[in-house]
Amino acid sequence: MKHLYSGGEWTAPGSAAASQMLDPLDASALDMVEAGMIPVCELGAIPDGEAVRVDGPVPIAVFKADGELYAIDDTCTHQDASLADGWLEGCVVECPLHASCFDLRTGQVSGPPAKRPVRTHRVVVLDGMVYVQQPQSAGQAA
Ligand code: FES
Repeated sequence: MKHLYSGGEWTAPGSAAASQMLDPLDASALDMVEAGMIPVCELGAIPDGEAVRVDGPVPIAVFKADGELYAIDDTCTHQDASLADGWLEGCVVECPLHASCFDLRTGQVSGPPAKRPVRTHRVVVLDGMVYVQQPQSAGQAA
């Protein structure tokens, strides 16, 4: 697990999870990145089955699973464990502390002890760089 980003302002809401490739020649793609997405790392820096933690006021875990990128809140909704340190099986990550499992696509938790889902965040790839939508603030998924 890698920690590649720290600091910055967290101002825009998070949204859907799965990654999207953007055309660097598309002006709207550049606008999207400039409008509140933060750089994570180069695409090749996240091997399949691994995660990168984006440190900040609301830590985010960016996973590459089955060739797709997904971003969720890094902190487990049960206690203070980093999901980027968990075990990944397909599109499900198992919390390293008490083994609740979270679906990277939806944030849903499969069972106790965690009871609440994690938030998912939008991920895009532009010109070989991975960007993630900044969450508005710390908080729980609905
Ligand atoms: S801290 Fe994640 S299940 Fe307990």
